[in-house]
Amino acid sequence: MDRLVIRGGKRIEGSVQICGAKNAALPQIAASLLSSEPLELRNVPEVTDVNTMLSLMRELGVVATHGAGRSLVLDAGGARNAQAPYELVRRMRASILVLAPMLARFGSARVSLPGGCAIGARPIDQHLKALESLGANVEMEGGYIHAWTNGNGLRGNRIVLSSPSVGATETALMAAVLACGESEILNGARDPEISDLARCLVAMGALIQGVGTHRILVQGVDALHGARHELITDRIEAGTYAVAAAITGGHLEILGAHLEHLGSVVAVLESAGVQIWPTDRGLMVVRSGTLKSVDVSTEPYPGFPTDLQAQFMALMAIASGASVIRETVFESRFMHVPELGRLGANISLQGSTALVRGVERLHGAEVMATDLRASVSLVLAALVAEGETTVNRVYHLDRGYESLDRKLVQCGADIRRVVG
Ligand code: EPU
Repeated sequence: MDRLVIRGGKRIEGSVQICGAKNAALPQIAASLLSSEPLELRNVPEVTDVNTMLSLMRELGVVATHGAGRSLVLDAGGARNAQAPYELVRRMRASILVLAPMLARFGSARVSLPGGCAIGARPIDQHLKALESLGANVEMEGGYIHAWTNGNGLRGNRIVLSSPSVGATETALMAAVLACGESEILNGARDPEISDLARCLVAMGALIQGVGTHRILVQGVDALHGARHELITDRIEAGTYAVAAAITGGHLEILGAHLEHLGSVVAVLESAGVQIWPTDRGLMVVRSGTLKSVDVSTEPYPGFPTDLQAQFMALMAIASGASVIRETVFESRFMHVPELGRLGANISLQGSTALVRGVERLHGAEVMATDLRASVSLVLAALVAEGETTVNRVYHLDRGYESLDRKLVQCGADIRRVVG
């Protein structure tokens, strides 16, 4: 298992290019199942979660071909109604996103139940409820979800989500585009990745209105056709590099980042003493003064993203004063807390709230990556820790960050990957 050896104390400076968004790529790869014609996606990040999704697609008979410019052509012309096996779904929960397109295209689908993961129980009740609202039957059999329609396929209807789940909104959208008649998705998530999925579906011939609002209207069509679509850039990757610049007192231009995709992150970082402004090519992030503590609560988009909570906690670990960080999206997304403690951070946990008392300095230690965002928070903390930090199990990082170590090294960090 690879590990990263990081010597802290270097400023992150210069510029860094952001990749296409992992969380836009995964649902759109699944969406290729909705058509028998090829879907070409551009700007697809080279991360292991994408590879896991592609393994699943191959299992379902989709032919995936990589081309120039990080393009990926997905041809589901020969897709078959196979089941999504436990072995693949267990590796990545986003595999559940094949359920709706398989059901919509073939009239039935069997997908392994994903189970819990390091950040919480992560039920899928909202996904299933959305499909049932469109007339699907759903049963659990031997650890598998079996969903099917009675003869005439899915029927347009009102889908009311009890909370704005990202995945359930994507499931609802992908099912509704091929349902007969009109569907209304209420209280859906409004994340930029959902708007991007909708743009991709529209390019394939879907009729969708109200994306980015709490009321999405979908007029079902008989079939979708081939299309070409470029993915939006990864706002969480952008936010992670913004914290890298901020934590090291650096000066970084984040190429391809969009201010409007970052929602409340910009205001929170500004309150912490970080300056951010848009440039022609992306965003500039600079921190020259003292870091100030800020209280933060994670919220559905456009609130502060749970996917940046761990990184922000690393930043607050060296800010002056104390910060209260509340996690409201996932019940146990604090695996990084004890590991940050090994680097000298002073963080106490009570339920879903962390109290971070800023310390003057962190010091290097051996730490363990536990999930994607927890891992990257350890790398960020290590950038300012005195001495050497070893981050073990970096395969978690490779799931969602393309070339994180190489990009940080190009911006001045002292990081060595030990392969093994
Ligand atoms: N939830 C339910 N029932 C459901 C679905 C969700 O109770 O049927 C709960 C979850 O347990 C969680 C909350 O609702 O407590 C939000 O979950 P959501 O469905 O929004 O998350 P997701 O679709 O499973 C996506 C991202 C995550 C990101 C969350 C929240 C992808 C592939 N994954 O997951 O990304 O944290 O939205 O923004 O888009 C990551 O990239 O590191 C990552 C975990």
